[in-house]
Amino acid sequence: MQNGRDMLKDNKTIELSALYEISKLLGSSLNLKSNLRGVLRVLSEYLDMNRGTVALRSNNEVSIIAAHGMSEEEIRKGRYRLGEGIIGRVAKLGSPIVIPNIGDEPLFLNKTGARRIIKKENVAFLCVPIKFKSEVLGVLSVDRLFGLKGVSFEEDLRLLKIIASLMAQSVKLHMELEKEREAFIEEKEYLKQQLKGKYRIENIIGQSESMQEVFESIHRVAPSKANVLLRGESGTGKELVAKAIHYMSPRAKGTFVKFNCASIPEGLLESELFGHEKGAFTGALALRKGRFELADRGTIFLDEIGDLPAMLQPKILRVLQEKEFERVGGEKTIKVDIRLIAATSRNLENLVAEGKFREDLYYRLNVVPIFLPPLRERREDIGLLSDYFLNKYNRENSSSVRISAEVLQTFSEYEWQGNVRELENTVERLVVMAKGNVISKSDLPLNLREQPVKTKYSAQIKDDLPATVEAIEKDKILDALNKTGWVQAKAARLLGITPRQIGYKIMRYGLTPKRES
Ligand SMILES: Nc1ncnc2c1ncn2[C@@H]1O[C@H](COP(=O)(O)OP(=O)(O)OP(=O)(O)O)[C@@H](O)[C@H]1O
Ligand SMILES: [Mg+2]
Repeated sequence: MQNGRDMLKDNKTIELSALYEISKLLGSSLNLKSNLRGVLRVLSEYLDMNRGTVALRSNNEVSIIAAHGMSEEEIRKGRYRLGEGIIGRVAKLGSPIVIPNIGDEPLFLNKTGARRIIKKENVAFLCVPIKFKSEVLGVLSVDRLFGLKGVSFEEDLRLLKIIASLMAQSVKLHMELEKEREAFIEEKEYLKQQLKGKYRIENIIGQSESMQEVFESIHRVAPSKANVLLRGESGTGKELVAKAIHYMSPRAKGTFVKFNCASIPEGLLESELFGHEKGAFTGALALRKGRFELADRGTIFLDEIGDLPAMLQPKILRVLQEKEFERVGGEKTIKVDIRLIAATSRNLENLVAEGKFREDLYYRLNVVPIFLPPLRERREDIGLLSDYFLNKYNRENSSSVRISAEVLQTFSEYEWQGNVRELENTVERLVVMAKGNVISKSDLPLNLREQPVKTKYSAQIKDDLPATVEAIEKDKILDALNKTGWVQAKAARLLGITPRQIGYKIMRYGLTPKRES
């Protein structure tokens, strides 16, 4: 037989172990709801309580977020305005309410409908605020079954208050964490936008500082009408940048017209650029619009502007200044709204000094210069670009070729005189020609495997000098042609010979743009 004191001691032990269990549960996971559900389950097991809910406050509402002994449907219905029903009242006033017998209580809403089955007379309802300092975060409520004899709820209330205060700390912590998480996500989104908006341009790869500067300039200049002068060696991406500027500008919907000033004979340039009237010269059978007219309300990209013959320079200057010109053989003045982007791999300042390029035109063009650095001066981009081209050509060829670390190392040390174009062509060829799944050093073309060139021919020189010279020449020409995408005029420039000379050599050596295996 237990005496009164022993019973009290037993109750205390049970209570303490319940509290211990509860505090453990509250810290058990990052999922607040499931933690709270666990607590309510322990409450019902240890303390002879039947049904329980935790409702949390947000703005002017309290909603049940965890419950024991209720269905999902019933939980969903458990939403109260501040001051509404008992839960709403406790949330509003911040002090507990005990309903000894919910059958007698008009305030009891039974909104959730959870208590249909039990006869209301036998249920007491205990409701305490979950408070952190003086802030009411929510409400803990418990149904307690009792017999017909009167019960004191004093003890239960005391225990519930302790539990509610444990819950308060946990809820507060989760709210803080949630706020932080939201702020973090927002920040991440913001940074992502920033990165996209400021330092990234689709299709143009480059994380080196010098390329980041290029991207920044592109973003700054694109929205304006300013003329842009793109400078850089062959294959550094001038055309790519010109397009990016156009498509990022308010003229994006207009046409992007590209024209290479070195591509056609001088005599045809004028009519190509400005168009001609019918009968302007022999063979001018119909009116033809020139590039400037076609670029109206768009962008005209003049590549190799340094090759513009002196005779045409004043006319270009006039288009830039007055936005007008006449077609060849025409009287009518044509007005155009154009933006000019020019590019050159030559040193315009030298051309100006030599009197080959008009100074006033030079200043007109050079409003915003953007310099594209050679690849060998931003070697940190080589790996990134190789990856990019590898993906591109794997996709195009439905293959999944990889590049060995050794090859990447070679890439990162190579001179890349043809810049990104040469790297792109090299990767494409390697993907197309790959025998296995991994490209190794032996798959590389000779010029990449063995550099510098000197060592390559040294053994031959002693035996047959003329043949060796020819072999070197042929190699060099082929190399230059590959680097410039077989544009003969460019290759000639790279080699320091005239286009006529290179044409002759190509014939003599029987060079063709076929891929070597
Ligand atoms: N940063 C880059 N990211 C991705 N691709 C690039 C980059 N730079 C160049 N390329 C690619 O390299 C090739 C050559 O680029 P582009 O034609 O723009 O060079 P360019 O400076 O105009 O050369 P050229 O003076 O010989 O006309 C293109 O296929 C282009 O897509
Ligand atoms: Mg180009």
